[in-house]
Amino acid sequence: MSLFDHTSIQFNTLKQRAFNGRWAVVPDDVLPLTAADPDFPVAPEIIEAMQSYLGAGYLNYGPFSGLDVFKENVALHYNARKGCAFIPEDVLAVNSAAQGMYLVARYLLQPGDEAIIFDPVDFLFKKTLEVVGARPVLCAIPAETGVLDLAHLESLITPRTKLISICNPHNPLGVVYDSSVLLSLAKIAERHGLWVMSDEIWSDIVYDRQAYRSYASVSDYAALHSFTVYGFSKTFGLAGLRIGAVLCQNTAVMQDFIEQSQFNSTIEGVSTLSQIGAAAALEHAWYWADEFVEHLQANRDLAYQLLSKSNSLQPNRPDSTYVIFPKITNGLSSETYVKQVLEQAKVAIVPGSARWFGPGAEGHVRICFSTSRDVLEEGILRILSKMG
Ligand SMILES: Cc1ncc(COP(=O)(O)O)c(C=O)c1O
Repeated sequence: MSLFDHTSIQFNTLKQRAFNGRWAVVPDDVLPLTAADPDFPVAPEIIEAMQSYLGAGYLNYGPFSGLDVFKENVALHYNARKGCAFIPEDVLAVNSAAQGMYLVARYLLQPGDEAIIFDPVDFLFKKTLEVVGARPVLCAIPAETGVLDLAHLESLITPRTKLISICNPHNPLGVVYDSSVLLSLAKIAERHGLWVMSDEIWSDIVYDRQAYRSYASVSDYAALHSFTVYGFSKTFGLAGLRIGAVLCQNTAVMQDFIEQSQFNSTIEGVSTLSQIGAAAALEHAWYWADEFVEHLQANRDLAYQLLSKSNSLQPNRPDSTYVIFPKITNGLSSETYVKQVLEQAKVAIVPGSARWFGPGAEGHVRICFSTSRDVLEEGILRILSKMG
């Protein structure tokens, strides 16, 4: 039996624990294919490591920037799988990728500064800029292909631009930007003296055995003028532990970032238990994550194949992530389409509205497929039967 069979999902537990648009917040007859959060129990090695840590009976302060075992494992992971050369001191434990994005924005930007982000892209990019008073400048990318027009991106740079924030792999388009695109981007950043924030939370969920290269690995300038944001919610299903990492190879900047972000004062800091769980994931649970990716790839293929028969949706074929972002072809707006799907088909999906992904997402919907084959098939068939 596979780890990712329908029978391994504990729906009763999900009904109590899976929030953020999912099982715990939808009526019993609705299938939530909304927030990107797996329906499967996490790898047992993660639970065992946390239980064993608790068993020793002490929960003291940890090191301010994170436990050695956490920082070592994150650096090793990036070096082994993503072409980087990080040392543990380049790693800061943070409370989720979302917090990492916010801390980087707060550190690099003053009110009124501009940061370039993609449109469409996950709402956290705009949100984290706005809460620090910075101005998001939208770089449109085609929702069907995600291809980045580098000349257009460069034309958006002004004297107020301080940062380019990239989502690689891209949520919601499922595109992976390869090292040649990243190198061209690094050259633009270098020409204009800009920093790059590379959100790489999806970098382990890549299909068809494609290699992944981190932005920080493409040039010396990229290594020394970027913050990489990594997380554990997608690869290992640890969203509730609120654990992530920020990586930066520029030692002086990293030390200052940790100080300015109030980790040394203990105002900030990450639960040691969450770090133990995340470190165990990187050390012991790749067999689980690799099988998860295989399962997801089959789900991606199923979703693509079923949605290709639709008269109201035209699917993309994501190379990464566990969301698919089909285009609405029957003229309905994203909000109306999603409302009708919920009311008539009893499936919850996410509208491609400006609120979630920027104005460039309109006319699309996002469907999450990190569930069993059975739930996914039923959800999409319900949509097709009511919406065509
Ligand atoms: C691109 C991207 N960045 C960040 C996050 C947030 O992750 P975390 O749970 O670690 O805050 C998500 C979650 O969906 C995401 O898709």
